[in-house]
This record gives sequence, structure tokens and C-alpha cells, in this order.
Amino acid sequence: MTKARISIDREAVVAPINRRIFGSFVEHLGRCVYDGIYEPGHPTANEDGFRMDVVELVRELGSTTIRYPGGNFVSGFRWEDSVGPREKRPVRRDLAWHALETNQVGVDEFARWLKLTGSELMMAVNLGTRGIEAALDLLEYCNHPSGTALSDQRIANGTPEPHDIRMWCLGNEMDGPWQTGYMTADDYGKLAARTAQAMKAADKSLELVVCGSSGSSMPTFGDWERTVLEHSYEHVDYISCHAYYQERGGDLDSYLASSVDMQYFIETVVATADHVGNKLKSKKKIKLSFDEWNIWYLDEHRESDEVNDEWRYAPRQLEDVYSVADAVVLGNLMITLLKNHDRVASASLAQLVNVIAPIMTEPGGDAWRQTTFFPFSVTSRLARGEVLKPRIDAGTYETAVYGTVSLVDAVATTDEESSAVFLVNRSRTESLSVTVDVTELGADRITEAVTLWDDDVYAKNTLQDQNRVGLKQLEGAVLDGGVLTVTLPPVSWSAIALA
Ligand code: AHR
Repeated sequence: MTKARISIDREAVVAPINRRIFGSFVEHLGRCVYDGIYEPGHPTANEDGFRMDVVELVRELGSTTIRYPGGNFVSGFRWEDSVGPREKRPVRRDLAWHALETNQVGVDEFARWLKLTGSELMMAVNLGTRGIEAALDLLEYCNHPSGTALSDQRIANGTPEPHDIRMWCLGNEMDGPWQTGYMTADDYGKLAARTAQAMKAADKSLELVVCGSSGSSMPTFGDWERTVLEHSYEHVDYISCHAYYQERGGDLDSYLASSVDMQYFIETVVATADHVGNKLKSKKKIKLSFDEWNIWYLDEHRESDEVNDEWRYAPRQLEDVYSVADAVVLGNLMITLLKNHDRVASASLAQLVNVIAPIMTEPGGDAWRQTTFFPFSVTSRLARGEVLKPRIDAGTYETAVYGTVSLVDAVATTDEESSAVFLVNRSRTESLSVTVDVTELGADRITEAVTLWDDDVYAKNTLQDQNRVGLKQLEGAVLDGGVLTVTLPPVSWSAIALA
């Protein structure tokens, strides 16, 4: 059996854990909101029409900050349509996803839903069809306590306390030709800077996210970030990153190394942001908000997609069903986010329910966990205190896309009482025997050792077979004299908690 060695240095601290790294994303898209989190006729629905079985799963998933309401949807969103008496709310066409938007769930309902899930709201403003005034109005409606036209409107609508939203996205993917009202970097940079300046005039403690590239393969990647930040650097706090991965052409080896691309993406954006900051002689460092990341089979024709020329309510769109391999890649992407947590201060798994999501639902029926649910929920639950970057000494393998890649990736976290080690084995064929020197963590027992793997790397959970894939005990994990020994099955993600 191939062997690997990992050592954990208590001093190799990346950053204290900010729970925002375990964020998620809810967009008015397909069945994420309607027939997803919201289904008034469902047996578990509460008085607002929210499915409580879904709320329970979101709590178990451990999502913290949730980005809303888009996504591409936000670039045509009129927030005023989504507040006030429900029976008076207009039905609109959503051009981004070619669907009907009934506005039955809006800003106030979504904020109430987040109270049920215990999550923080991260709001995006529309810089596609709208601009500074609409952003300021939404900010006043949401955050001003009382005594102004829009805050009093919120109170009259039944929400006496302000929503007090801290994080705001200045539009969405404004570099993408698919985006309603997309712009050049120069135009967007100027608009984002002016919008940010105006929003901070209302509240200088807001945390603002300017749009970076919608992917590292965009032709403008790098130049976009530089130009946008040259305009907006002193007014914003974060730049966004979006990345989706999928297995292409049956090349599982390369797919299992997707986090190599995420690492390259992060390093490039950090270098570009720091270049602009240094040029401006700024004392501030821009943080990264990785506010869309996931597996998405974007290239594939999905026969299940109910997209056609009709304008439909809550069509089935982007309902990818994930495999064991997808979950292992997702777990590795989380490891990468944690290893870069000094700069990636916030992240959102895109999305949460039904739409490229860890949670699936059927109207009137069940809600269940996709394979990708497990690495996310375990990492969110076990990662505590500070992130430590381990030293990894492992074999390598060849990939067509990324060249020579380590067979193992790992990260550790620790606080006063507990530590955790998260590992992936990217080998398609070999189990790996890994020793992890955890002496400096001062741990003396294993409290949990779980793994996600299966003989069939393409096994999935479906409506018919909702529990086909789940976590297994990581058999044979031993902690002895400060050395943890584990055997990682091929194509697996594992977590070991220590006390
Ligand atoms: O998450 C799905 C879509 O992906 C979002 O609406 C958009 O921002 C991105 O292109």
C-alpha cells in the first residue's frame, strides 16, 4: 500500500476561522426558493409557507452566511416588488432564467427564514438594470431603524426590527455576456465605486463585495480584477470569485485535482489585488469572497431541465445529481478554501436547495441529502478555532489538465478543546496509509473518524434511493504517541476529530 506522511505544526496558522467560510447561496432560480425552501401546501410548512424539513437539513448542513437573491436573477430584480402584502405583489418575467417570478418570497420573508436556519443574510444589489438609487433604497429599507419613508414602510410591512445586513454584493458577474446589463471592467469599476461610496455614506461599517471574474477561464480574467479594483479599491472590502467544476470527457484523474485550479484562481486574484493596493500605496488588503463555488455539470445537456420558450413557474433547472466523486472533489475544494482562509474570508456554496444543491426536495414529498451534503456538513461542524496548514509528504500522479499532482491533500483546525484533520485521497486505484504527526495538537484520543467513499465512485442519492451514499466509519484509525495512522480508501474524503 502506498504511504504518505503529514505533520502538523501548531505555529503554521493560516487564520482564525471565520464562520462565513461555510456560507451558501439561495437564488430565485428553478426550484431553489419555490418548491424548495418555500412550499405553502407541504405537510411541514410553517405559517410563512417555509418547509421545516428543509430548515432542519439546512441547520444540519451548517450553512452560515447565505447570499441572496442572486446570481444572475439579481440583475433584473426590483426589490420593491418583493415586499408588502403578498396578494398585491406583481408577477414578473425573470430574463436570467426565463421563468415567472411571483414575488411570494421576498426580502422580509427570506430574512425570517434565515432566523429559522440560524444564518446571516448577505444581500446582492442590482447593478444590471438598476443602480445607485435602488441600492440605497434597499439599504434604507433593510437597515435603517425607523423614522424614514422606507424604514417605516418595512415596519408597516410587519418587520419592526431592521435586518441589519452587514455584507452586500455590488451586482453579480458583471463581466459575463449572459448577465442582464453586463459591462466593461471600466464601466463596472466606476459604477461599483460610486455605489459603494454612496452605501458607505449611509453606513461606513458595511462590508462590500465588488464583482471579480465569473470564472478563471474568462478572457478578461486578471485584467477585469485589476481595472475594477483600480476604480473601487478604497471603497470596497472584498472581491468575489466564482468557480464551478465538473468531470469532463471521462478524465476522473484531472477532475479529482480540481482544487489545483481553485488554488491558482485564489493566488492570481490575491496577487492582482495586492498589485493594485501596492500601486495605490494603500494600507488595506482586499479580502476574497468566494461567493459561488461548487460542482456544476454545465456542459451537459440536461434532459430534466424544463427550459423552453414558455414562461414557467419554478421549472426544474440545474438539478444536478451528485456522485461520490463529486463529493470528494467538493470536500477537497473546502480544504483549499480553508488553506487560503487568510485571504478568502467568506465563501458560499452555490447553491442550497434543488439547484446544483446539497439538499433536494420533491413537491409534497421528501427532502434528502445529496452526496455533497456530507463533506460540507462535517467540515462546518468540526472545524473550530484556527486553521493550520500541514506539511504533506506524499506520492504524486499525472493528470492531463494539471500535470503532476499530489495524491493527498489535507488541512487541520484546532482550538483549546478539539482538533480536526480533513484529508482526501485522489488516487483512483490505491488505498493510502497516512501517518499524521499531531504531537503539537496535544490530543490524546480520536472522537470521530468518518469517510466518504464507495466501491462505485459514481453512486448517487436519488428520490428513489435517498440513502444510497452516506458517511462510513473510517475503520482502523489509531492515535498512538502523538501519531495518527489512517488508511484512506481510493477516491475518498475523510475527517478525523481529536480531543
Ligand atoms: O449559480 C448559478 C449561476 O451561476 C448564478 O446565477 C450565476 O451568478 C452563475 O453564473
